[in-house]
Amino acid sequence: MATRQKPGGVKHRHKLWFGVVGASALVLAGVAAGFVILLSGGFSTAATTQHFWITHRLLDIGLSVSVNAAASHIKVPALTDPTMIAQGMACYRMHCIDCHGAPGEAPAAAGRGMLPVPAPLSQATRDWSTAALYYITKKGVRMTGMPAWEFRMSEHSLWSTVALLAAMPQLSISQFDDLKARSQSSTCPVNTVSPQTPYPDRGEMLLRQYACHSCHRIEGVTGPKTYAGPELNRWSERKYIAGVLPNTRQNLTQWIHNPQSVNPLTMMPNLAVPESHAEEIARYLLAPR
Ligand code: HEC
Ligand code: HEC
Repeated sequence: MATRQKPGGVKHRHKLWFGVVGASALVLAGVAAGFVILLSGGFSTAATTQHFWITHRLLDIGLSVSVNAAASHIKVPALTDPTMIAQGMACYRMHCIDCHGAPGEAPAAAGRGMLPVPAPLSQATRDWSTAALYYITKKGVRMTGMPAWEFRMSEHSLWSTVALLAAMPQLSISQFDDLKARSQSSTCPVNTVSPQTPYPDRGEMLLRQYACHSCHRIEGVTGPKTYAGPELNRWSERKYIAGVLPNTRQNLTQWIHNPQSVNPLTMMPNLAVPESHAEEIARYLLAPR
């Protein structure tokens, strides 16, 4: 019995083998074709072209599945407190309105020229749970231009903004404008708490979130080939900071927190890095590599 079955088994295995090789070849051909199109210059990166309908749909589905999975464990606090909604308005006015607009108010020029275009958020509660709105606001959406606010807004500011988004569908234009006018003197408190991520990832994440790698090349951090600022590779071996201060953790924290306090003429901008975050970044840069 066993000897008669064997040839059939081998044939079957052959078929499977051909199937796997065929499928892999197809995938490889697809990837190669993608590269050829990308490198031929035929693929437009202009923001004035539009995505294929199917690309847009697939990205939307991907976003929704990913966000809902990540948001499923988030506990939502009570969001109906009017002072919280008023606080949310201060944050919305400062950080969101330029891209997303508001009831009766168009987005600013930059927000109108983006691809994908940021949608009005007055109906966002129809598409997303409040936990999902919190997650998107906190973490951003990669490759769309939606920024992460985790390090620019305190936990309470994030939830306050979500409270406003949740209240928005019930607000008339005049109620919205009234709330907005009353929020003019309020600010949106920033996050000064260090992220829960373990060290050293925490320092690296903060460093990226304050755009340090937009001007400095830093080993282990993917970013543009930039030389606007000096390279920060093997920073622990450096003697001085910007030629002015001895390279200690305390001095480096001070430099990152407020470079102008060390040298008023420096080209490095003040990036509003709170001291707690500056210290994490300093620890990361100073670790021997
Ligand atoms: C620099 C522009 C920009 C700013 C500023 C901005 N967003 Fe966005 N936002 C986007 C883009 C782009 C998208 C993605 C649109 C898409 O994928 O279709 C987006 C998507 C979203 C979404 C998902 C909504 C949807 O239609 O699926 C939410 C919620 C959101 N943003 C909230 C906020 C909040 C809250 C703020 C302020 C704290 C904010 N955004 C600030 C550009 C911005
Ligand atoms: C817009 C560009 C820009 C950004 C963003 C930027 N820097 Fe700088 N940085 C500079 C420039 C320019 C210098 C040189 C300044 C000088 O010597 O006075 C500098 C100097 C430094 C130095 C001293 C370098 C040396 O060779 O002595 C350190 C350390 C540093 N930056 C860290 C950071 C960190 C950390 C961040 C993010 C929080 C950051 N920078 C963001 C432009 C930038």
